Amino acid sequence: MGRIQLEEVTVHADTADGDLLVLDTTTVDLTERRIALVGPNGSGKSTLARLVNGLVEPSAGRVLVDGLDVVDDGPAVRRRVGFVFTDPSAQLVMPTALEDVALSLRRTHRDKTARRAAAQLVLERFGLGDLGDRSVHALSGGQRQLLALAGVLATDPDVLVADEPTTLLDLRNARLVGDLLLGLEQQLVLVTHDLELAARCERALMVDGGRVVADGPAADVVAHYRATA
Ligand SMILES: Nc1ncnc2c1ncn2[C@@H]1O[C@H](COP(=O)(O)OP(=O)(O)OP(=O)(O)O)[C@@H](O)[C@H]1O
Ligand SMILES: [Mg+2]
Repeated sequence: MGRIQLEEVTVHADTADGDLLVLDTTTVDLTERRIALVGPNGSGKSTLARLVNGLVEPSAGRVLVDGLDVVDDGPAVRRRVGFVFTDPSAQLVMPTALEDVALSLRRTHRDKTARRAAAQLVLERFGLGDLGDRSVHALSGGQRQLLALAGVLATDPDVLVADEPTTLLDLRNARLVGDLLLGLEQQLVLVTHDLELAARCERALMVDGGRVVADGPAADVVAHYRATA
Protein backbone atom coordinates (compact mmCIF):
# COMPACT_ATOMS: atom_id res chain seq x y z
CA MET A 1 0.00 0.00 0.00
CA GLY A 2 1.07 3.55 -0.70
CA ARG A 3 2.31 6.09 1.74
CA ILE A 4 1.52 9.79 1.77
CA GLN A 5 3.56 11.91 4.13
CA LEU A 6 3.09 15.55 5.03
CA GLU A 7 6.03 16.83 7.04
CA GLU A 8 5.39 20.11 8.82
CA VAL A 9 3.49 21.43 5.82
CA THR A 10 2.17 24.97 5.82
CA VAL A 11 0.23 26.63 2.98
CA HIS A 12 -0.08 30.38 2.67
CA ALA A 13 -1.99 32.26 -0.03
CA ASP A 14 -1.62 35.83 -1.25
CA THR A 15 -4.94 37.61 -1.11
CA ALA A 16 -6.09 41.20 -1.59
CA ASP A 17 -6.16 41.46 2.20
CA GLY A 18 -2.62 40.15 2.53
CA ASP A 19 -1.18 36.83 3.52
CA LEU A 20 -3.68 34.09 4.44
CA LEU A 21 -2.74 30.97 6.37
CA VAL A 22 -4.74 28.29 4.51
CA LEU A 23 -3.16 25.29 6.20
CA ASP A 24 -1.33 25.52 9.50
CA THR A 25 1.68 23.30 10.20
CA THR A 26 0.47 19.80 9.46
CA THR A 27 2.30 16.49 9.87
CA VAL A 28 0.53 13.26 8.91
CA ASP A 29 1.61 9.86 7.66
CA LEU A 30 -1.14 8.17 5.64
CA THR A 31 -0.70 4.48 4.97
CA GLU A 32 -4.31 3.25 5.17
CA ARG A 33 -6.05 2.23 1.96
CA ARG A 34 -9.03 4.55 2.34
CA ILE A 35 -8.69 7.92 3.99
CA ALA A 36 -11.49 10.48 4.27
CA LEU A 37 -11.06 14.21 4.72
CA VAL A 38 -14.07 15.82 6.39
CA GLY A 39 -14.85 19.21 7.86
CA PRO A 40 -16.74 22.45 7.25
CA ASN A 41 -16.68 24.53 4.06
CA GLY A 42 -13.51 26.54 3.70
CA SER A 43 -11.65 24.52 6.33
CA GLY A 44 -8.77 23.43 4.08
CA LYS A 45 -9.77 19.95 2.83
CA SER A 46 -9.30 20.66 -0.87
CA THR A 47 -6.00 22.37 -0.12
CA LEU A 48 -4.81 19.30 1.77
CA ALA A 49 -6.01 16.99 -1.03
CA ARG A 50 -4.35 19.09 -3.73
CA LEU A 51 -1.00 18.95 -1.94
CA VAL A 52 -0.92 15.22 -2.64
CA ASN A 53 -0.39 15.64 -6.38
CA GLY A 54 1.29 19.03 -6.40
CA LEU A 55 -1.70 21.08 -7.54
CA VAL A 56 -0.95 23.11 -4.42
CA GLU A 57 2.66 23.48 -3.32
CA PRO A 58 3.62 23.74 0.34
CA SER A 59 4.86 27.15 1.46
CA ALA A 60 6.97 25.27 4.02
CA GLY A 61 7.63 21.61 4.79
CA ARG A 62 7.38 18.79 2.29
CA VAL A 63 4.95 16.27 0.86
CA LEU A 64 6.08 12.76 -0.13
CA VAL A 65 4.15 10.10 -2.05
CA ASP A 66 5.84 6.72 -1.79
CA GLY A 67 9.02 8.59 -0.93
CA LEU A 68 8.82 10.90 -3.96
CA ASP A 69 8.80 14.62 -3.25
CA VAL A 70 5.71 16.17 -4.80
CA VAL A 71 7.61 19.33 -5.79
CA ASP A 72 10.99 17.87 -6.80
CA ASP A 73 9.56 14.77 -8.53
CA GLY A 74 6.36 16.38 -9.81
CA PRO A 75 5.88 14.45 -13.07
CA ALA A 76 6.58 11.08 -11.41
CA VAL A 77 4.13 11.89 -8.62
CA ARG A 78 1.43 12.96 -11.06
CA ARG A 79 1.77 9.67 -12.95
CA ARG A 80 1.16 7.90 -9.65
CA VAL A 81 -1.61 10.06 -8.26
CA GLY A 82 -4.91 10.40 -10.10
CA PHE A 83 -7.08 13.37 -9.17
CA VAL A 84 -10.84 13.70 -9.59
CA PHE A 85 -12.24 17.20 -9.27
CA THR A 86 -15.65 18.21 -7.94
CA ASP A 87 -16.38 19.83 -11.30
CA PRO A 88 -15.75 17.19 -13.95
CA SER A 89 -15.76 19.77 -16.75
CA ALA A 90 -12.27 20.71 -15.57
CA GLN A 91 -10.87 17.41 -16.77
CA LEU A 92 -12.94 16.36 -19.77
CA VAL A 93 -10.98 17.57 -22.77
CA MET A 94 -12.06 15.48 -25.75
CA PRO A 95 -15.26 15.96 -27.81
CA THR A 96 -16.87 12.59 -27.07
CA ALA A 97 -17.02 10.29 -24.05
CA LEU A 98 -15.22 7.46 -25.82
CA GLU A 99 -12.43 9.71 -27.08
CA ASP A 100 -11.98 11.15 -23.63
CA VAL A 101 -11.37 7.76 -22.03
CA ALA A 102 -9.24 6.70 -25.03
CA LEU A 103 -7.00 9.71 -24.41
CA SER A 104 -6.29 8.42 -20.91
CA LEU A 105 -5.29 5.06 -22.39
CA ARG A 106 -2.74 6.37 -24.90
CA ARG A 107 0.24 5.36 -22.75
CA THR A 108 -0.91 1.79 -22.24
CA HIS A 109 -2.57 1.12 -25.62
CA ARG A 110 -0.54 2.32 -28.59
CA ASP A 111 -2.81 0.78 -31.22
CA LYS A 112 -5.80 2.99 -31.97
CA THR A 113 -8.35 0.22 -32.54
CA ALA A 114 -7.31 -1.63 -29.38
CA ARG A 115 -7.42 1.67 -27.51
CA ARG A 116 -11.00 2.39 -28.58
CA ALA A 117 -12.05 -1.14 -27.62
CA ALA A 118 -10.43 -0.77 -24.19
CA ALA A 119 -12.09 2.63 -23.76
CA GLN A 120 -15.48 1.08 -24.57
CA LEU A 121 -14.92 -1.54 -21.83
CA VAL A 122 -14.09 1.20 -19.36
CA LEU A 123 -17.30 3.04 -20.27
CA GLU A 124 -19.31 -0.13 -19.76
CA ARG A 125 -17.79 -0.67 -16.32
CA PHE A 126 -19.18 2.74 -15.35
CA GLY A 127 -22.60 2.20 -16.91
CA LEU A 128 -21.79 4.59 -19.77
CA GLY A 129 -21.52 1.99 -22.53
CA ASP A 130 -24.25 3.54 -24.66
CA LEU A 131 -22.89 7.07 -24.41
CA GLY A 132 -19.51 6.66 -26.14
CA ASP A 133 -20.40 8.85 -29.11
CA ARG A 134 -22.17 11.47 -27.03
CA SER A 135 -20.58 14.91 -26.79
CA VAL A 136 -19.15 15.40 -23.30
CA HIS A 137 -21.10 18.68 -23.18
CA ALA A 138 -24.38 16.86 -23.77
CA LEU A 139 -23.88 14.54 -20.77
CA SER A 140 -25.69 15.22 -17.52
CA GLY A 141 -23.65 16.42 -14.54
CA GLY A 142 -23.69 12.95 -13.02
CA GLN A 143 -22.71 11.26 -16.27
CA ARG A 144 -19.83 13.71 -16.63
CA GLN A 145 -18.67 12.91 -13.10
CA LEU A 146 -18.72 9.19 -13.84
CA LEU A 147 -16.84 9.80 -17.08
CA ALA A 148 -14.16 11.88 -15.35
CA LEU A 149 -13.68 9.12 -12.79
CA ALA A 150 -13.54 6.50 -15.53
CA GLY A 151 -10.86 8.48 -17.37
CA VAL A 152 -8.68 8.84 -14.29
CA LEU A 153 -9.01 5.21 -13.23
CA ALA A 154 -8.21 4.10 -16.78
CA THR A 155 -4.67 5.40 -16.21
CA ASP A 156 -4.37 2.93 -13.31
CA PRO A 157 -2.97 5.32 -10.70
CA ASP A 158 -1.47 4.00 -7.44
CA VAL A 159 -3.29 6.67 -5.46
CA LEU A 160 -6.62 8.29 -6.21
CA VAL A 161 -7.48 11.66 -4.72
CA ALA A 162 -11.14 12.51 -5.15
CA ASP A 163 -12.49 15.91 -4.11
CA GLU A 164 -16.24 15.55 -3.50
CA PRO A 165 -16.74 13.06 -6.32
CA THR A 166 -20.36 12.26 -5.42
CA THR A 167 -21.63 15.80 -4.88
CA LEU A 168 -23.38 16.08 -8.26
CA LEU A 169 -24.70 12.54 -8.36
CA ASP A 170 -28.20 11.26 -7.73
CA LEU A 171 -28.77 8.70 -5.00
CA ARG A 172 -28.19 5.71 -7.22
CA ASN A 173 -25.03 7.03 -8.85
CA ALA A 174 -23.71 8.37 -5.54
CA ARG A 175 -24.00 4.83 -4.18
CA LEU A 176 -22.47 3.37 -7.31
CA VAL A 177 -19.49 5.73 -7.26
CA GLY A 178 -19.13 5.51 -3.47
CA ASP A 179 -19.04 1.72 -3.54
CA LEU A 180 -16.69 1.76 -6.50
CA LEU A 181 -14.28 4.16 -4.78
CA LEU A 182 -14.27 2.24 -1.50
CA GLY A 183 -13.73 -1.01 -3.39
CA LEU A 184 -10.65 0.17 -5.26
CA GLU A 185 -7.33 -1.56 -4.74
CA GLN A 186 -5.59 1.78 -4.93
CA GLN A 187 -5.03 4.05 -1.99
CA LEU A 188 -7.89 6.55 -1.81
CA VAL A 189 -7.96 10.03 -0.36
CA LEU A 190 -11.59 11.07 -0.37
CA VAL A 191 -12.81 14.58 0.42
CA THR A 192 -16.50 14.37 1.16
CA HIS A 193 -19.46 15.88 2.96
CA ASP A 194 -21.17 12.48 2.74
CA LEU A 195 -20.46 11.39 6.29
CA GLU A 196 -21.86 7.89 5.82
CA LEU A 197 -19.39 7.36 3.01
CA ALA A 198 -16.57 8.90 5.06
CA ALA A 199 -17.36 6.61 8.00
CA ARG A 200 -16.78 3.57 5.79
CA CYS A 201 -13.12 4.52 5.28
CA GLU A 202 -10.36 3.15 7.53
CA ARG A 203 -9.18 6.51 8.70
CA ALA A 204 -10.52 10.04 8.63
CA LEU A 205 -9.01 13.44 9.21
CA MET A 206 -11.27 16.26 10.28
CA VAL A 207 -10.03 19.64 9.11
CA ASP A 208 -11.22 22.87 10.67
CA GLY A 209 -9.79 26.36 10.34
CA GLY A 210 -6.76 25.15 8.40
CA ARG A 211 -5.80 22.49 10.94
CA VAL A 212 -6.29 18.77 11.34
CA VAL A 213 -8.36 18.77 14.53
CA ALA A 214 -9.22 15.06 14.68
CA ASP A 215 -7.49 12.03 13.20
CA GLY A 216 -8.24 8.38 13.77
CA PRO A 217 -10.62 5.54 12.85
CA ALA A 218 -13.11 7.04 10.39
CA ALA A 219 -16.23 6.14 12.40
CA ASP A 220 -14.80 7.88 15.50
CA VAL A 221 -13.75 11.01 13.63
CA VAL A 222 -17.13 11.27 11.87
CA ALA A 223 -18.91 10.87 15.22
CA HIS A 224 -16.72 13.65 16.63
CA TYR A 225 -17.53 15.87 13.64
CA ARG A 226 -21.28 15.25 14.05
CA ALA A 227 -21.04 16.00 17.78
CA THR A 228 -19.16 19.27 17.29
CA ALA A 229 -20.87 20.64 14.16
N1 LIG B 1 -5.11 30.22 -3.60
C1 LIG B 1 -5.88 30.73 -2.64
N2 LIG B 1 -5.99 32.06 -2.48
C2 LIG B 1 -6.75 32.59 -1.50
N3 LIG B 1 -7.45 31.85 -0.63
C3 LIG B 1 -7.39 30.53 -0.74
C4 LIG B 1 -6.61 29.89 -1.73
N4 LIG B 1 -6.74 28.57 -1.61
C5 LIG B 1 -7.58 28.38 -0.58
N5 LIG B 1 -7.97 29.56 -0.06
C6 LIG B 1 -8.87 29.75 1.11
O1 LIG B 1 -8.50 28.78 2.08
C7 LIG B 1 -9.63 28.24 2.73
C8 LIG B 1 -9.65 26.72 2.54
O2 LIG B 1 -10.01 26.40 1.20
P1 LIG B 1 -10.31 24.92 0.73
O3 LIG B 1 -10.70 25.00 -0.70
O4 LIG B 1 -9.14 24.06 1.05
O5 LIG B 1 -11.55 24.54 1.66
P2 LIG B 1 -12.44 23.23 1.69
O6 LIG B 1 -12.30 22.64 3.06
O7 LIG B 1 -12.12 22.35 0.55
O8 LIG B 1 -13.92 23.80 1.55
P3 LIG B 1 -15.23 23.25 0.78
O9 LIG B 1 -15.87 22.21 1.68
O10 LIG B 1 -16.10 24.48 0.69
O11 LIG B 1 -14.82 22.73 -0.55
C9 LIG B 1 -10.82 28.96 2.13
O12 LIG B 1 -11.16 30.03 2.97
C10 LIG B 1 -10.32 29.45 0.81
O13 LIG B 1 -11.01 30.59 0.38
MG1 LIG C 1 -13.17 21.81 -1.17
